[in-house]
Amino acid sequence: MELPREVTIREVGTRDGIQILGVQIPTDQKIELIERLVEAGIRRIEATSFVHPKYVPQMADAEAVMRSVRRKPGVSYEVLVPNARGAERALSVGVDRLVLVVAASETFNQKNVRMSLADSFKSFEEIARLAREAHVPIKGGLATSFGCPYEGGVSEARVHQVIQRFVDLGADEVGLADTTGMANPGQVSTMIPPIRERWPELHLGLHFHNTRGMGLANVLAGLQVGITMYDASIGGMGGCPFAPRATGNVCTEDTVHMLEEMGVSTGASVSGLIDCARFAADLVGAELPGQVMKAGPRAQIAA
Ligand code: COA
Ligand code: ZN
Repeated sequence: MELPREVTIREVGTRDGIQILGVQIPTDQKIELIERLVEAGIRRIEATSFVHPKYVPQMADAEAVMRSVRRKPGVSYEVLVPNARGAERALSVGVDRLVLVVAASETFNQKNVRMSLADSFKSFEEIARLAREAHVPIKGGLATSFGCPYEGGVSEARVHQVIQRFVDLGADEVGLADTTGMANPGQVSTMIPPIRERWPELHLGLHFHNTRGMGLANVLAGLQVGITMYDASIGGMGGCPFAPRATGNVCTEDTVHMLEEMGVSTGASVSGLIDCARFAADLVGAELPGQVMKAGPRAQIAA
């Protein structure tokens, strides 16, 4: 099996992971989790989102989180923004990258950000201008790329169309998100190569949810077609508040454990991440879906 030698893990636990939670996590504890994740070797982190606090109360402290988190040199502290207002808020406190989120399906975009795709892209033009002026790079985040919980299938033509719009805006990266765990490894294997062929310069990332137990299988399918950037959430927390029956992202420590066992380097420490997952479980006061945090790393047993 031909696999990349190195992979980047983008941690999204303090954004996608906790946005759905009913209990409010105190700001200082979110900050501590971010700092611990960085200590465990995470180099890119989607730390928070600048969305409307009325719709996602958990993210109401986005400014406070970004103002107070200790920034380690070489680490990219990134944030999600749904519109120009969000981008203005984010840029006022300093971020390393803006993630512009839109859905491949009209219905999901409407439910998520209360806009048509056309309106989302209208506001992205403004965001792209603000980001250029601030010398902050942008990433396009494409929700429901592999299927929509409301509309069902999403055509590859639609995904290509939205990628092109992000490229036109100046995004050097696009992340394809499987918001509600509808992707399967076969679909990943067939959908990705034409995208890489059409946009060879574009840095393509994958964002899987384990909603139907296919998360790590999808990561493996992505590796086999050469993708080297994966979003993951510590402990497997998460889900979108605007998707029915949403559950967590692929779990960071389980993903890193699998990759390192296969000889793919992530730069992160499995044991350090397990400590983070335990800390996260204490914060949310519930058992998390992660497996390796319960069973222990294989290397510990086989050493
Ligand atoms: N942050 C804070 N306030 C915001 C805002 C933002 N990003 N965007 C808009 N607002 C404010 C406006 O200033 C306006 O305030 P005013 O009434 O005092 O003038 C008010 O909200 C309404 O603005 P509008 O543009 O009509 O927003 P909306 O109510 O249609 O909400 C979003 C649009 C995108 C802000 C909202 O749907 C949202 O935050 N969604 C989050 C989705 C999410 O986090 N999904 C999970 C991750 S993908
Ligand atoms: Zn997600």
